[in-house]
Amino acid sequence: MKISVIGCGYLGAVHAAAMASLGHEVVGVDVDEGKVEALSSGRPSFFEPGLGELLVRAQDKGRLEFTTDVSRAAEAVVHFVCVGTPQKPGEFAADVTYVDAAVESLRPHLTRTSVVVGKSTVPVGTADRLAKVIAETGATMMWNPEFLREGHAVDDTLHPNRLVYGVTDGDAGHRAAATLDEVYATMLAEDTPRMITDFATAELVKTAANSFLATKISFINAMAELCEASGADVTQLADAIGMDDRIGRKFLNAGLGFGGGCLPKDIRAFMARAGELGADQAVAFLKEIDSINMRRRVRMVDIARDALGGSFIGKKITVLGAAFKPDSDDVRDSPALAVARLIATQGGIVTVTDPQAIDNAQRAFPELGYVTDTSEALTGADAVLLLTEWKEYRELDPAATAELVVGKVLVDGRNVLTPELWRGVGWTYRALGRP
Ligand code: UDX
Repeated sequence: MKISVIGCGYLGAVHAAAMASLGHEVVGVDVDEGKVEALSSGRPSFFEPGLGELLVRAQDKGRLEFTTDVSRAAEAVVHFVCVGTPQKPGEFAADVTYVDAAVESLRPHLTRTSVVVGKSTVPVGTADRLAKVIAETGATMMWNPEFLREGHAVDDTLHPNRLVYGVTDGDAGHRAAATLDEVYATMLAEDTPRMITDFATAELVKTAANSFLATKISFINAMAELCEASGADVTQLADAIGMDDRIGRKFLNAGLGFGGGCLPKDIRAFMARAGELGADQAVAFLKEIDSINMRRRVRMVDIARDALGGSFIGKKITVLGAAFKPDSDDVRDSPALAVARLIATQGGIVTVTDPQAIDNAQRAFPELGYVTDTSEALTGADAVLLLTEWKEYRELDPAATAELVVGKVLVDGRNVLTPELWRGVGWTYRALGRP
């Protein structure tokens, strides 16, 4: 099938490459020339495991190209809208101008057989509004939310745990669903569950899923606050409650909390949209979820300062991790960088290291110190803060690390190290929610 993908960021670039790998003929369109050039040469401008190989393979087979010229999308039958919906500056609401612009740019190229499939995370009501925008072309609108996680994006796209199609009632909706079934035939053959809903439900599935995940993380972080107040251990608490399969252990890792380009802005956009719909009370709890999450960053700084005897002034602090989570170079709303900056403003001499995210971090916060090599970053530190749980930090050897630092003070912001091993060789080990 001939497919276009409008917007080639995290979502679109992966989607385009994945669709081409399924055998479709794909053109990816983006307004950013640099991005198009990078993707065309098989070097995405962001780190995502497996994506480079997928891009090269699809382009070698002649099934995938990238362009800034939207008229190249004209031959496609299915058009996926994959542009970003960031938080609006100064407010909670999502900025949907890129979605509107993408659909507007497609409009002259649409015909009666075209299907426009929205994948971006949007405020409920957007699909209905856009369907009216393209109505005169005869094309059909659908909403097919994307649930991929950064760092697992290729696998999540090719093997999703569910497909949700938001369609309109009637023949046009049925035909559009049948067209998308053809696109996703390989996944459907793997028995991927597929649900057909109306537009509003499909849009809400995404926002509700992300709100639930954020709630789960903040719930365990609220328990971490109670553990800190009572001397209990939140990791054991999570293990024990997680054994109840009605609760489940996944997304119960207490620590520095959530960040990234999705969860924080999605729960805020949800609150804003619920307010517009007069249903703000229904999601008022998300404000508390957001607050619990933000409090963890401050608490982390307090624990680190306390472990250093009450002041950061003149102390060398090594921050392990800059990305908002491991296996990503994304630093959007990174909890690790938020902590690093707070410590720097309190007089600490901060050195940040990360296996992939240093360039992005340096662009966003040039005022912090950056070192690529982990051993070099650790050398001479008065305190070490593990803030993003990359594998290489989880596997650090306590004795070898002790040789590099000046002060054997370690604060585990992700609860991924074994306290006994570190304490056993003389480290002061502190963590969030653990004695
Ligand atoms: C999320 C959703 O998981 C995905 O389905 C959606 O499509 C986009 O938003 P992503 O932003 O890639 O994906 O990250 P995710 O793996 O969900 O992690 C989000 C944040 O939560 C990270 O900062 C992570 O460190 C944190 N987290 C996750 C915890 O603090 N504890 C946990 O137990 C799990």
